[in-house]
Order: sequence, then structure tokens, then C-alpha cells
Amino acid sequence: MAGYQGKVAVVTGAASGIGYAVAARAAAEGMTVVLADIDAPRLEEAARSLRAGGADARAMVADVSDRDSVTDLARRVAREAGDTWLLVNNAGVYLSAPFTEMPAADWEFVLGVNLWGVVHCLQAFLPGMLERDSGHVVNTSSIDGLVTVRNATSYVAAKHAVTALSETLYRELEEAGSSVGISVLCPAAVATDILNSGRHRPARLGPAAPLTAREYPPLDEVMQPEQAADIMFAGVRERRFWILTHPEQGAGAIRARAEGIIAGRNPDDESLDPNFTKATGRQPS
Ligand SMILES: NC(=O)c1ccc[n+]([C@@H]2O[C@H](COP(=O)([O-])OP(=O)(O)OC[C@H]3O[C@@H](n4cnc5c(N)ncnc54)[C@H](O)[C@@H]3O)[C@@H](O)[C@H]2O)c1
Repeated sequence: MAGYQGKVAVVTGAASGIGYAVAARAAAEGMTVVLADIDAPRLEEAARSLRAGGADARAMVADVSDRDSVTDLARRVAREAGDTWLLVNNAGVYLSAPFTEMPAADWEFVLGVNLWGVVHCLQAFLPGMLERDSGHVVNTSSIDGLVTVRNATSYVAAKHAVTALSETLYRELEEAGSSVGISVLCPAAVATDILNSGRHRPARLGPAAPLTAREYPPLDEVMQPEQAADIMFAGVRERRFWILTHPEQGAGAIRARAEGIIAGRNPDDESLDPNFTKATGRQPS
């Protein structure tokens, strides 16, 4: 991305998966990259591997669900890396269980990372970007932030909230005439460690619900994180708000939902065509 050389990119959840691929892509563009994550050993390894390729990559441990931790992160970024230009609110966790079997603590965990994480990072980084009238924010939602799926109420609720808050913020930035851009990234199935999110669940939350396995396609058959990162960067370059990794596969389900709302039709699985289930891991009923 011409013109982005030396600018600062902050990527949360950058130790793994899509976040790491985004950090690597930002590094390849010559950006100074801050990799933030709760997983210290993996984070350090991720930053080291980017530095080995010649990147200016810094690891900063942070828990996005914790406001104080994110405030510290923002101070540290300003002090050690400079003004943030690209903020990618990517950190996320996924738990799957029917609503009746998911304890409140799991809601706290899923909303804490996926929703509060985005809110905390926006509160910590956006004021500086607005003051400089420069930069771009990407909030990572999901196809689950556009349509719904069984056995994932907390995740679907969090991701819908991220979509809606991003869209609302877009309107507010437009109205204010700000040059700061904002996009919402909605991935469908991407080959990452997301189904192993229980690894980050704090012990203080007590026993977790037994997980309902989500039937993902084999990981080597789904999109690789590097491709998702390329799609994200193309969207940022075009200052596109909606960035979907699988727009064709998702279109039927998104359209069916919107039309169902307008027609007053109850939710059904009619929209789950084979391409969509393959891209999202959903099981047709
Ligand atoms: N992989 C998919 O199929 C898919 C689909 C839709 C949306 N997403 C979203 O993409 C984003 C990236 O997930 P991924 O698929 O790369 O999964 P991943 O598990 O490989 O990576 C997530 C990263 O977030 C970090 N993280 C977790 N809790 C954190 C916290 N409290 N503070 C800071 N970092 C934390 C993890 O340590 C990990 O490095 C998430 O928001 C996820 O919901 C993924």
C-alpha cells in the first residue's frame, strides 16, 4: 500500500490466525507493527518471526477485555512506536453451546473479548486518530455478525453488536467530516485456532460449559489467513466499510434474512445452500 511505509499498525489478537496474517501483511507494506495479544509466548514468537524477515515488529502483551490493560497498551504504543495509523480490532474467542447450557461466565468471556475488547480499544486509540484526523480502524466481526446460527448465542450476539457499533460509528465519523476510515471485517470459515478458544478462558470464571462441536470443514479446505488478510487490506485501501471474506457464499443467507425480516417470515434454514455451509461450517438441518 503506497504511502503507508513507516506508519504504525496495531493488531490485537496478532499471535495467531488472521491477526498474525494481518500483522505480517502490514509488515510487508513497510509499516511499524505492534502485535498485541494475551498469549505472551506465542506473541513473542510471532513478533520474532516478523523481525527475522526484517520487519519493525513489536510484541505488547494486552488483554483486550480489560480496560486498564488496553489503556496501558495505548500509552505504550504512543511512547514506543508512535501515532497509530491502522487499528485492527481482531482479537476474538468462540464458544459453542446451546443457550440453556452456557453459563453466565461464558457469556462474560465471549462478550468481554469480542465486544468489550473492541469498545476498549476504540476508546483508547480513536481519540488520538480523530485529533490527528488520520488513520483507519478495522473491527473484526464475522459472518455470524450478519446472520445467525444455532449453538452460538453469545458469539452471534457479540458479533452482531460489533457490526452494529461499527456501522453506527461509520455514520458518526461521516457526519463529523472525519478523515478517519472505518471498516468491519466479516470472515466466514478461515483456517485458524478459533475453535480452540477455550485456551484463553480465565480460570476465575469457574467451570466452562461442555462445548458443542461446530462442524467445520477440514481446515485445509477453507480459506487461509493470508488470503483473509489480503482481502482486508484491499478493503482498507478502497476505504470500503463492508469487508466480507466470502461475499458470494454469504449473499444468499444475508439476502434471505433481510427479506425474511421485511416479509415477517420466521427464521429458517432455507438459505443454507451448500456453498454457504462449506464457507461457514454450518450444518444444514
Ligand atoms: N477463523 C474463522 O473462521 C473466523 C470466522 C469469523 C470471524 N473470525 C474472527 O476473526 C478474529 C481472529 O480469530 P482467528 O480465527 O484468527 O482465531 P485465533 O484463535 O487463531 O486467533 C485469535 C487471537 O486472539 C487472541 N486473544 C484471545 N483473547 C484475547 C484477549 N482477551 N486479549 C488479547 N488477545 C486475545 C488469541 O490469543 C489469539 O492469538 C476473531 O475476532 C474471530 O472471531 C474468525
